[in-house]
Amino acid sequence: MSERNYFKIAERMAFRAVGTTYPNPPVGAIIVKNDSIISRGWTQPKGIPHAEIHAINQVKNKKDIQGAHLYCTLEPCSHEGKTSPCVNKIIDLKFSKVFISQVDKNPLVNCRSVKKLKSAGIRVVIKNFSDRVKELNDIFFNSLIGNKPYISLKIASTADGKIATNSFKSKWITNSTSRMIGHKLRSLNECMIIGTGTIRKDDPRLDCRLDGLSNRSPAIFILDRNLDLKKGLKVFSQKNRKIYIFYSDKIKKRIPKLKNIEHIKTREVNKEIDIKTAIKKISSLGYTRILVEGGATLSASLLKENLIDEIYWFRASKIMGNSGINAISNLNIDEIYHLKKFNLTNSKIIDGDQLSVYRRK
Ligand SMILES: NC(=O)c1ccc[n+]([C@@H]2O[C@H](COP(=O)([O-])OP(=O)(O)OC[C@H]3O[C@@H](n4cnc5c(N)ncnc54)[C@H](OP(=O)(O)O)[C@@H]3O)[C@@H](O)[C@H]2O)c1
Repeated sequence: MSERNYFKIAERMAFRAVGTTYPNPPVGAIIVKNDSIISRGWTQPKGIPHAEIHAINQVKNKKDIQGAHLYCTLEPCSHEGKTSPCVNKIIDLKFSKVFISQVDKNPLVNCRSVKKLKSAGIRVVIKNFSDRVKELNDIFFNSLIGNKPYISLKIASTADGKIATNSFKSKWITNSTSRMIGHKLRSLNECMIIGTGTIRKDDPRLDCRLDGLSNRSPAIFILDRNLDLKKGLKVFSQKNRKIYIFYSDKIKKRIPKLKNIEHIKTREVNKEIDIKTAIKKISSLGYTRILVEGGATLSASLLKENLIDEIYWFRASKIMGNSGINAISNLNIDEIYHLKKFNLTNSKIIDGDQLSVYRRK
């Protein structure tokens, strides 16, 4: 098999880990000896262990690794964190060649492993084998270095772009298959943000209810300026999930101490939580992927600041008309050149609904 094909398999391993590895990046690794794959690995939940070690751990007789080739979608780590440096293990086990799709821009690594491997006499090949892997790694780098997690907005609307009736009824506009894809999106993201409007009107659980993926429900960040939400709401009933509440620095209330809920005091701007500060805070906690299931107000507030990277827009083949609630509230755009610009990257029909995927230009 060609190097490219081995890398394709490592790439598939990396995508298995998406949404589960926070605060680590999802990485894939395969071990090849005498032209056959002897092990495959991917970053395990919360990054313990890393992909290379996951692959190594599955080789029963570690002596078999001597002289083998390792393919990684990202440079192995060189620093002591929650786990020991992967590079030391790679050297100890005497791999003969390491293929790396991308050097790790994390300042703690940044070519250190490459140098260490080379000094240990291991050949290193660095080659961008796949744009998909580059995108995956860039999400991690942007969050770690630029404090900008990848933000996906999911909208479920009628064909004419309404997300609820004027009495705030939205269950269910789209069909059950679209909603299942919505649950899959939850499983692929490490956290979600939600505003009080949607929590009050819908009382959602925001969990992943797909068989076998219920343990992949993301953490929840709630924008509740005045700390008004009642703790009897469904979202608060899930004691095994991490919940963060952003509240305004103008609030003087006593903050209740609850086991799985953390309160984050945040700047208020124009009677809203300062969304840019909130996103930076989410990033500083190590989250790299955020799913937003707006709320017209929340969607608008993120779009105004150009914070949305991708939109999954599910449109049912139904019309609501002018009385319904628009998917996105006022963006105060008067000029055509101020429109928020996206590329349509995918479009498909889902049992009669339409899913359009847009990427920020
Ligand atoms: N079909 C769909 O895809 C879909 C998805 C979600 C929701 N919905 C529907 O949308 C409706 C709710 O929408 P909504 O616009 O009223 O509420 P929303 O966007 O969910 O929440 C907005 C509220 O969040 C709080 N907030 C604090 N800081 C904010 C910030 N920086 N940006 C935005 N919000 C901030 C504010 O309340 P405080 O002042 O209390 O902090 C604000 O009024 C419901 O009817 C729901 O069914 C539909």
